[in-house]
Amino acid sequence: TEGTVGMGHTRWATHGPPNDVNAHPHQSGSNRLVLVHNGIIENYSVLKQALLNKGHHFVSDTDTEVLVHLIEEVQQTTGEPIEEAVRLALTQVTGAYAIVVMDKMDPDKLVAARKQSPLVIGVGKNEFLIASDQSPLAGLVNNVVFLSDQEIATVRRDGTFELKSIGDNASRKPVLKELELELSQLEKVGYEHYMLKEIFEQPDTFINCTRGRYNANEGWVRLGGAESILDKFLQAERLVIAACGTSWHAGLVGEYLLEELARIPTEVEYASEMRYRNPIINKTDVIIGISQSGETADTMSALELAKEQGATIYGIVNVVGSSIARLSHAGSYIHVGPEIGVASTKAFTGQVALLTLLALHLGYRRGTIPRSYFLQLLEELDALPKKMEQVLKLNDSIKKIAKKLVKSTNALFLGRGFNFPIALEGALKLKEISYIHAEGYPAAEMKHGPIALIDKNMPVVVIATNRSAYDKITSNIQEIKARNGIVIAVVSEGDSTIKKIADHVIEIPYTDEPLTPLLSVIPLQLLSYHIAVYLGRNVDQPRNLAKSVTVE
Ligand code: M6R
Repeated sequence: TEGTVGMGHTRWATHGPPNDVNAHPHQSGSNRLVLVHNGIIENYSVLKQALLNKGHHFVSDTDTEVLVHLIEEVQQTTGEPIEEAVRLALTQVTGAYAIVVMDKMDPDKLVAARKQSPLVIGVGKNEFLIASDQSPLAGLVNNVVFLSDQEIATVRRDGTFELKSIGDNASRKPVLKELELELSQLEKVGYEHYMLKEIFEQPDTFINCTRGRYNANEGWVRLGGAESILDKFLQAERLVIAACGTSWHAGLVGEYLLEELARIPTEVEYASEMRYRNPIINKTDVIIGISQSGETADTMSALELAKEQGATIYGIVNVVGSSIARLSHAGSYIHVGPEIGVASTKAFTGQVALLTLLALHLGYRRGTIPRSYFLQLLEELDALPKKMEQVLKLNDSIKKIAKKLVKSTNALFLGRGFNFPIALEGALKLKEISYIHAEGYPAAEMKHGPIALIDKNMPVVVIATNRSAYDKITSNIQEIKARNGIVIAVVSEGDSTIKKIADHVIEIPYTDEPLTPLLSVIPLQLLSYHIAVYLGRNVDQPRNLAKSVTVE
């Protein structure tokens, strides 16, 4: 097929099952307008009813089809050109959207608009490319324009680009940014899956994330992105971390780090809950938003709410120029490069590395961490990339353990202290890519309920690298073995006790306790990966999941 204007969309089903009828693009009744949409039209049923009353006929179950009919209705009643009809229609819509619309009677232009859902326009040589994030534009254009919330753009064949605000039709000036992404960063370079590549990249991405941000010889930590709000951090009575999924788990490690090293009370909120529960936000609070994509709708909404209430927002984000990066007062990128696998791996270690530096920085400035310990941890950070490589060398033995677990239908993950969030993360990794049901628990909580699940068929992954609670976690393992559970223990090198009682042992290099999550998570990523591959799952694109969750 040849053509000069076109559109396509990979749908993540909200209204109606994934099938041909519900697939995008959707067309208006007259087939004159064509539209693709990412997001949710929340008032779609009211709009649909009004349009039905006016004689519109719908063929799909989607909210998107309602939108294209609405635009058609506005166009027919006002006689306005497509860009103005789209804008007027959008003023009637509540919900989230990134859309592109084409009018067959006016084929030399594309109209694109966004509210909450991300949208970026690549400006190439004699062409415009519109996408929901920058990755597909790599290698095709050098410059991009990130649409801000509630903006509408019209790009034309003659090369003109018009940007307006949806609400008041005011003109805006498109701001061109350089696309900092190379095609080579998006390749699998010999790995079977992106997830495996990204797991193996971690020694390098850790270095990229921490480069120039600390120096163990000179004894300092510096986070350029936090400098402008350092006083707010130092004066804050509490910190609130808002995130979702794996980023929330990183936030939980952050809570342990910030409270242990900087002694600042820290709360970790599921962004989706925080947004809708009328949280107490003080003007002195610093809210740390963590997001790989920088586009997660729940996290964005929580941060916007906190911002409206006068708090200071610090973003820990991977994707440069993303919405959360732009809405934050200050922030630090984790610089781990594009993460393509839906299961987050290298972003997690990047987020934890950044939070570790933040906690060390604040702890040192507040005088809550002795200089000797501060220096010890910095030296240990220097040693971590090599230790990560050592963990990665265990890949083959972890694969063998994985083979023994493929028939399991459930799994438990246990950890204590800094490694409790790693238990949650290990369970999330397993369930999202293998579809095996898994739960993460603080190890001592097992006796308050989950222990009832343990029998000879139940694999229990125990992270037992902690020196401080070693005896306690050893007892937990004994309790599992007494009930015939299968124990897979992640221990520090030199361990002798747990080795004798666990069924399978994964021995990782020793590191100081606050830094153990950066190592202990890697075997769990590999374990999930190999189980999923044995089960023939679509590792990089597991069912029902999207890399960036831009709907609330
Ligand atoms: O882009 P974000 O970090 O904001 O994404 C948050 C979650 O959607 C994400 O971590 C999700 O849980 C991953 N699939 C986990 O592997």
